[in-house]
Amino acid sequence: MEKAVAQKKIEELSKELHEHNHLYYVLSSPLISDFQFDTMLKELQDLEDQFPEFLLSNSPSKRVGGAVTKEFTSVKHKYRMLSLGNSYSKEDLIDFETRIRKLLEEEVEYVCELKYDGVAIGLRYVDGKLIQAVTRGDGTSGDDVTTNVQTIGSVPLELKGDYPKEFEIRGEIFMPLKAFEKLNKEKAKAGEPLMANPRNTASGTIKMQSSKIVAKRGLDCYLYYMLGEELPTDTHFGNLEKAGEWGFKVPNVSDRMIEKTNSIEGILDFINFWDDKRKDLPFEVDGVVIKVNRHDRQQRLGFTSKSPRWAISYKFETEQAVTSLNSVSYQVGRTGALTPVANLEPVSLLGTTVKRASLHNKDQIEKLDLYIKDQVFVEKGGEIIPKVVGVNKSARPDSAIKIDYITECPECETELVRKEGEANHYCPNENGCPPQITGKIEHFISRKAMNIDGLGGETVEQFFKAGLINNIADLYSLDPLKMISLDRMADKSVNKIIKGVRESLSIPFEQVLFAIGIRFVGSTVAKTLAKYFKNIQNIKNATLEELINVDEIGDKIAESVQEFFIDDKNLEIVNRLTEAGVQMAIIETEEEANLVKVLEGKSIVVSGVFYQFSRDELKKTIEKYGGKNVGSISKKTTFIVAGDKMGPSKLEKAAKLGVQLVSEEEFIAMISEG
Ligand code: IVH
Repeated sequence: MEKAVAQKKIEELSKELHEHNHLYYVLSSPLISDFQFDTMLKELQDLEDQFPEFLLSNSPSKRVGGAVTKEFTSVKHKYRMLSLGNSYSKEDLIDFETRIRKLLEEEVEYVCELKYDGVAIGLRYVDGKLIQAVTRGDGTSGDDVTTNVQTIGSVPLELKGDYPKEFEIRGEIFMPLKAFEKLNKEKAKAGEPLMANPRNTASGTIKMQSSKIVAKRGLDCYLYYMLGEELPTDTHFGNLEKAGEWGFKVPNVSDRMIEKTNSIEGILDFINFWDDKRKDLPFEVDGVVIKVNRHDRQQRLGFTSKSPRWAISYKFETEQAVTSLNSVSYQVGRTGALTPVANLEPVSLLGTTVKRASLHNKDQIEKLDLYIKDQVFVEKGGEIIPKVVGVNKSARPDSAIKIDYITECPECETELVRKEGEANHYCPNENGCPPQITGKIEHFISRKAMNIDGLGGETVEQFFKAGLINNIADLYSLDPLKMISLDRMADKSVNKIIKGVRESLSIPFEQVLFAIGIRFVGSTVAKTLAKYFKNIQNIKNATLEELINVDEIGDKIAESVQEFFIDDKNLEIVNRLTEAGVQMAIIETEEEANLVKVLEGKSIVVSGVFYQFSRDELKKTIEKYGGKNVGSISKKTTFIVAGDKMGPSKLEKAAKLGVQLVSEEEFIAMISEG
């Protein structure tokens, strides 16, 4: 395709995709199918790969993520990010309203809104483009999380209409209940500890290193406050209306998510309506926010050191039930993570009977100062199971017993461990703890892993109890005679299992790497590692630094990989799998295998814009010829493939460290030798 044509097409596709994105995520009224959307996006991505010089800074392709942030940059807020004064009773609110009216000596117009339960974000736009997204932090400076926020569908990357040249808009990033439930289902399946609630999950997600994962988490964002030198109107309500026209997700008047009123009755009516109706919302709200509408009146009221005098939040009372705590049990997942669960005297809460509630971890139990036989308050949030939120200590019977968090695994009696910075305890007896053993085998045989037909959870349990299998490698030496002697095992089922196991020998290495169940190595990470290191030996021998240098691999994953290969039992299992014929290396095509690895042992940084390759292609080519892609320039960098428009700070660093710059043409010449 001609360059000019490509450029025009990229611009057109980007514009159309922004529009469809707005229809889908903000207005919930898509005009085209998901398939059509994906096809257009793919077309755009292909063109951007071919013509990286025309890639727009806020391209819709940013929505799928890709950038990895090892450490977020701290950014000073242009306007301090304040919080709100709280009120917990209607009396407090009546006081607030009376105070405002007295101070202003006139009738006041208020705007009532919902208080979204998530994390605050400040978005800066220049010339209609999202240029920066910053978390609240300490109110004075926060973290730059732009690449993660770009993946949130309802946050516009490009605005439309009559927006000012420069402004900031603030809002709340939250996780809709459906997305939260989906994530926890996946976590439960993977044997990982569950997330406590949508708010914590949203705040954890926005600080994740991999924007690709963020993109998959389904975050959403409502905007609630505009700041700038040239705002479109002189009221808060007017500004939000305008923001809606420019493409932001703002509350609707028609479903009463935002409302103007000039009386306390109006405010209380709004609260009463939502106190009931919030249960039908697809996301969590923890109260309402009341704001004075006119900017000049806001200015007259001013701020205290922490919050505006012209706004207040009111927190809903949550529905709770009181019941007694009978016991605490502890569940062990596939990865050994421990979850304490409260067993309760059954009690009815919001129409269902609650018998069990989550206690999350040891800290939580200590914070609650929990005793067996205590009267506890139970609440239902967006969680799958309800949670214990408090204790009525005055009702504690003399016979109550303080909970001593267990120190040994309830399944295998191994001493529990807790890693620094982690909330959960783990049973480290990976290869000897029954639920971990069966959990690992079940994971190994699952569809996305070794896809072993004929075997299921029940059979695994049965084989394990009968002593036929103790780890994943045992599957490859199953004795048909022993299998057939078990209950409900017919010839046919045995044959099917044997066949399934045999067929799993052709499962490619990247899937095998996922199947062996290294903590934090999900299917995407496994693919990345397999492609980069080519075989299990290289992964085993990789240093921590080498692992972290791989795109999308952070400290946590790198450490976990190393820990896995330090364990002799794991090594033995890997050896047995290798001997059984399981794929432990990626299969290279003949052409690939015959290449002379001219870049072997070289650490290469790619920077700037290229014409013969897309960035991805260039990186792949480096790997193909045995080189290693590294993210940043250091003394150890062999050379930099320097394209057009390489940033001045990188050029300076290269010069300072004396790292050689290689042009695109020189690079091509280098590899053609291979
Ligand atoms: S207005 C200066 N409006 O609640 C006024 N805040 O403690 C700034 N929040 O940090 C806040 N929904 O993260 C405002 N409709 C809403 C809100 C809202 C949720 C959060 C926000 C803020 C916290 C206040």
